[in-house]
Amino acid sequence: MEQEIDIIDIRKLVNTIKSVYGFDFGEYALSSFKRRLARIIEVYKFANMTEVIEKVRVDKPFYELFLKEVTVNTTEMFRDPSMWKKLKETVFPVVKDYSTIRIWHSACSTGEEVYSMAIALKEAGLYDKARIFASDINEDVIAKALEGKYPARNMELNGFNYEKFEGKLKLNNYFKSTGDYVFMDQDLLRNVTFRKFDLVQGEQTMRFDIILCRNVLIYFNLPLQDQIVGKFAKCTSQGGFLALGSKETIAWCKSVENYNTFSLEEKIYQRK
Ligand SMILES: C[S@@+](CC[C@H](N)C(=O)[O-])C[C@H]1O[C@@H](n2cnc3c(N)ncnc32)[C@H](O)[C@@H]1O
Repeated sequence: MEQEIDIIDIRKLVNTIKSVYGFDFGEYALSSFKRRLARIIEVYKFANMTEVIEKVRVDKPFYELFLKEVTVNTTEMFRDPSMWKKLKETVFPVVKDYSTIRIWHSACSTGEEVYSMAIALKEAGLYDKARIFASDINEDVIAKALEGKYPARNMELNGFNYEKFEGKLKLNNYFKSTGDYVFMDQDLLRNVTFRKFDLVQGEQTMRFDIILCRNVLIYFNLPLQDQIVGKFAKCTSQGGFLALGSKETIAWCKSVENYNTFSLEEKIYQRK
């Protein structure tokens, strides 16, 4: 059974992490943070929060594990296929004549989103002019993204999404199967650069024509969402796009005035 976690202990933990590792969980949505914390206490059999705080403080590998548990990494290829279809049918035609198409996957997790973009661009004949920057706070997921090795059992859902996206081929044209795993075609990463980047504290110096920030803002509280969308507004090129997850919106953010709604259903916004 989940034990009740005191808000004072949460603050102590957040302060410890901030002072030792420089990462700020202070404005993560409390309910989801608490839920993940309760799971960690149960799985790693901690007696109380004092033990958790001490372990995180002195044990960097455990902190990395903690980070991974707290920041949800769930992802899929062509997740929300209608968004990818919209991207292909309405966003790609806008950027297709750019000499370079600069794309940022700002919370790429294990890379499924990045491979999806590479495939979509390749099928649209745009891959060669794309420069894709992919980042996440978690180094472990970036390593997985680079490796492109995924459980074969995930490929049914990924393939189903790809069909709904109306891809030109079959998804298995882009990977090799070996038993329980598949290995993505590494040529899809030819124009991709991965880097660890923290959306909360990082300052992006590049500019992008397409930014994806999907299924991550929901883990932040509203002031933090506002702050991050403000940062995106600064690094989206004029006429560039910001795509969020289906349950997210910039509607109430201050920087909403910097964007036009390009697709309300698919949560795609265009920089004025
Ligand atoms: C649920 S996954 C979403 C992955 C992908 N964008 C998608 O929609 O399928 C959320 C990702 O956000 C990352 N994340 C959480 N906090 C972050 C932060 N402050 N900066 C960058 N990435 C962060 C997590 O590590 C995780 O990989």
